[in-house]
Amino acid sequence: METVKSIQADTKNDININTEVPVTEPQRQFYYMDLAKQLVSERTKACGHPLTFHVETFGCQMNARDSEKLRGILETIGYEQVDTEDADFVIYNTCTVRENANNKVYGRLGTLGSYKKKHPQMMIALCGCMMQEEHVVERLKKDFRFVNLVFGTHNIFKFAELVVRALTEKQMVVDIWEGTTEIVEDLPVERKYSFKSGVNIMFGCNNFCSYCIVPYVRGRERSREPKDIIREIERLVADGVVEIMLLGQNVNSYGKTLEHPVTFAQLLREVEQIEGLERIRFMTSHPKDLSDELIEVMAQSKKICKHMHLPLQSGSSRILKAMNRHYDKEQYLTLVDKLRAAIPDIAITTDIIVGFPGETKEDALETLDVVRRVRYDSAFTFIYSKRSGTPAAEMENQVPEQEIKENFDMILKEVQHIATEKAHLIEGQVQPVLVEQINEHDASLVTGRLSNNSVVHFPGDSSLIGKIVDVRLAQCKGFYYIGEQV
Ligand code: SAH
Ligand code: SF4
Ligand code: F3S
Repeated sequence: METVKSIQADTKNDININTEVPVTEPQRQFYYMDLAKQLVSERTKACGHPLTFHVETFGCQMNARDSEKLRGILETIGYEQVDTEDADFVIYNTCTVRENANNKVYGRLGTLGSYKKKHPQMMIALCGCMMQEEHVVERLKKDFRFVNLVFGTHNIFKFAELVVRALTEKQMVVDIWEGTTEIVEDLPVERKYSFKSGVNIMFGCNNFCSYCIVPYVRGRERSREPKDIIREIERLVADGVVEIMLLGQNVNSYGKTLEHPVTFAQLLREVEQIEGLERIRFMTSHPKDLSDELIEVMAQSKKICKHMHLPLQSGSSRILKAMNRHYDKEQYLTLVDKLRAAIPDIAITTDIIVGFPGETKEDALETLDVVRRVRYDSAFTFIYSKRSGTPAAEMENQVPEQEIKENFDMILKEVQHIATEKAHLIEGQVQPVLVEQINEHDASLVTGRLSNNSVVHFPGDSSLIGKIVDVRLAQCKGFYYIGEQV
């Protein structure tokens, strides 16, 4: 696995671990990192080989970015990363957005339990969104006693401190916070890629879409200060990053709660100025807050990728209202028209939920209509999953599985058909491609991404990784291209 270490700290002083524990962050965590380093080094000596770790990410890009923060700490304190769960320390960073994300974790945990029986020294930690649910933690305490450490989304910055506790206490360490207003900057991060990185611009969500558990497990919306974001990106660029993805559950409402409010479009303007940065992406845009100012900034920008992920969820205004999405079918379509008028070659992708409570065939046909009118470049189509604690879970008109399946298949088929047609439209064109890796199936090829986020494979070697090169999209294979460098 290719990894890159970047300790983004100018606050780290020489810390003497015999002094008092600092109360301010992040100094406190650096103190615990030093302490953990000693403990890990003692364990390493005792077992005669370097201690290894494996972090498994189950969720979205924000979850993935959190995993990079966990890796940063683990590398700093002396663990070595491995690709499998055959490791001295395994961390599952969980997701609970749909029931199946949840089930996957319990399944994998069972297997991990039998592993641990053979290797009693092994440490297991669970964190992420699922841990913010009371019933999950109860079940872990009851059925999965072998887990060493359980923590949530709000106190992830305390990972070093929690690791020290887990290394020194015999019983399961559980630390879950209900919420936080804190944002701790400048802790170590270990990036998966040397040339691209996610950057959190905000945390949490205030939208409370009626089906969604995210606001309950990620807490209230908090934006980072623009200067902290810019400083982080400048350091990333100095460290070789050419593409960043600005991350938030609803980036379009960025900055509203800051002491000196800033719009997302204003932030983008500043990020654009950073020399050496080549590409800017962001995720996710809520249609209700997508401003004309943002469209204008995108249209003028040389760096913002021509891709907008604009979750629709449903094409039925009636269902959108019940989902608490604050836009209707017509408003969504108008927004798409505006985007296309300003940025004609923009790729538009989306998320769709099929089977929300009360959804009829007519509603599903409305969604199909939007799919046909927008002609998405790609779309994630999900079957509605009932999340306890959300308003939709209490609704009486839950839709029977068979009905959902029929509508789901109908929408998915159309989404795929249109996506393939759209992909063919740029066949033969020459486009800039950021090369990401050696092709997983054929080592004579490299794999990269276009500005519109499509994937292309073409002959090349590892010297191209991290570079932006011009590639002719010789052959469209439906969802990807086979190309040649020009
Ligand atoms: N903040 C983003 C979405 C984050 S969750 C936004 O508002 O667009 C990613 C996607 O998961 C959502 O867009 C939605 O399509 C899907 N999703 C969320 N809750 C779901 C549920 N209960 N059942 C099925 N899909 C769900
Ligand atoms: Fe969930 Fe809606 Fe927030 Fe997205 S905007 S995370 S779908 S509540
Ligand atoms: Fe899942 Fe949490 Fe992301 S629930 S989708 S990992 S914010």
